[in-house]
Amino acid sequence: MAVNTGRTIGILTAGGDCPGLNAVIRAVAKAAMHNGIKVVGILDGFRGLVENRTVPIENINVSGILTQGGTFLGSSRDKPHKMLMGGKTMDMTEVAVANYHGLRLDCLVCLGGNGTQKNAYRLQQAGLNVLTLPKTIDNDVAETDITFGFDSAMNIATEAIDRLHTTATSHHRIMVCEIMGHDAGWLCLGAGIAGGADVILIPEIPYDLDVVSESLLNRRRSGKRFSIVAVAEGALPVTNDKSEGKAKNKAVKETRSLENGVVLVQESIGSRLARELQQRTGVEARVTTLGHIQRGGTPTPFDRLLCTRLGAAAGELLARKKYNVMVALKGQHCEAVPLKKVSGKTRIVPPDHSWIEAARLVETCFGDKVVR
Ligand code: F6P
Repeated sequence: MAVNTGRTIGILTAGGDCPGLNAVIRAVAKAAMHNGIKVVGILDGFRGLVENRTVPIENINVSGILTQGGTFLGSSRDKPHKMLMGGKTMDMTEVAVANYHGLRLDCLVCLGGNGTQKNAYRLQQAGLNVLTLPKTIDNDVAETDITFGFDSAMNIATEAIDRLHTTATSHHRIMVCEIMGHDAGWLCLGAGIAGGADVILIPEIPYDLDVVSESLLNRRRSGKRFSIVAVAEGALPVTNDKSEGKAKNKAVKETRSLENGVVLVQESIGSRLARELQQRTGVEARVTTLGHIQRGGTPTPFDRLLCTRLGAAAGELLARKKYNVMVALKGQHCEAVPLKKVSGKTRIVPPDHSWIEAARLVETCFGDKVVR
């Protein structure tokens, strides 16, 4: 039996969900309880903190959830400093702080991606003790080698590309597969390489449609009658004017718009690309948008292990009252990184990253002109 320290932590999950959240909640809670710390679950991210909606967490509540996708605490993209309350956007930081004290918390544990790291840092600046863990299928949190959820999503996207291969070969088509990732292309890159995509288009490398079309035609000329194109949501065409490319992409991002009272569904980047490539190459093209399937279901063994390690490390840090840090994986070890160093940053794919270099050597086209 652990000695009761009289201390309590709150735990919340914020931002887009991903496989592994429940596994981390379980690990943090078990490790904290093991160290004599009480755990309170806060519902629906930062909104639950502002609205004071909580659930007590006992050992029994976190039993059997290791393999379950999603988060049993619920999640939201709400920010304490800009929260929609009764139709008005308000700064609810003071309420969040008051509720933290009302719950007699010693630390607020926040599981989330870049937005969550920023929001947690704001609460740290408002005087709270916080501790964060890096979650996102996008793998774009700074100061950690990897985020939890990424491996699971990469498995799903890779399996999708595998399945597209067999139908692409049967019909001799170009298959475009749209993969999540607005700012960082890690998921598209990883799944693209693992699935053997012939073309990979990511936000970090603007693509030239002429280069992409030519590489697809070259495959055709060499007797390869199908092609797979993996494209990230945030991939951008080359343009002399960067703002023009961004504006074009923003239009694609906004999937719905209201015109004369009619909701129009705008063309996604995948559909646009499939249409453009079919026009330019004369080869039939189809698009598959993986969407939220990439965020659903059970975490991979890799993610379960990572989540357990990160969560257990968080429990140890809480026992030592080491607050205001993010628990990161660096090399073989879990490390505490000051939250200040993480907040406000996005870890994008460096254009000379070894994954890209390996892919280029197996003739993957990134839509740019590379002189060899
Ligand atoms: O941040 C993770 C992520 O899955 C992105 O890859 C994606 O662009 C976005 O969330 C989708 O968000 P939502 O579920 O809010 O539509």
